[in-house]
Amino acid sequence: MAAPTTYSIDGEQYIAVMAGYGGAETYGYLSDGVIFKYKNMGRILAFKLGGSETPLPPEQVVIKTPEPPETKIKEELIAKGASVYVAYCETCHGGFGDKHFSQHPDLSKLVLAKHQVFNDIVLKGILSENGMANFSNSLSKDDVEAIHNFLLKKQTELYKKQEAKSVN
Ligand code: HEC
Repeated sequence: MAAPTTYSIDGEQYIAVMAGYGGAETYGYLSDGVIFKYKNMGRILAFKLGGSETPLPPEQVVIKTPEPPETKIKEELIAKGASVYVAYCETCHGGFGDKHFSQHPDLSKLVLAKHQVFNDIVLKGILSENGMANFSNSLSKDDVEAIHNFLLKKQTELYKKQEAKSVN
């Protein structure tokens, strides 16, 4: 992920590198990339000659897509929602379903309780203590409604796909 650095302690050389999710590769992982197997949480790895084995991060866990709420999706808002999502949310939350590699929540897998407070999360910052900022200074209620409709549509598509698979 980052430029390595080197240092020595009592004459022994170490090479340290920061590893984690993000950077230019975010949308270009090769299909056999290790990111598909392991959670790529931020960590620092320090190497030395004759060092011990490198600890691996935990394996990825697939969370099922919860059933979306029964809300009528406003199709006319989807295109706007998608573009606002890309501009304001995707950097952290990333893609959806099997295209989700970020360590931030997959927003196509929101449980009902989170859908109910969606506006308060985005425009009132009720999760800001955990790093989910309040976007009220840059997004309007209409923008957030468009993002929410876009996400509801994604969740509905992925949920249907998942259920169709489990029936077969
Ligand atoms: C700078 C990074 C960042 C950006 C940009 C960001 N988020 Fe988040 N978001 C987070 C983090 C971190 C959490 C987890 C908070 C927690 O664990 O309570 C989160 C959580 C959420 C949740 C709750 C998810 C859940 O299942 O608990 C929603 C909804 C959400 N974000 C919506 C958005 C929307 C919509 C946007 C774009 C307008 C956005 N976020 C942009 C970092 C970000």
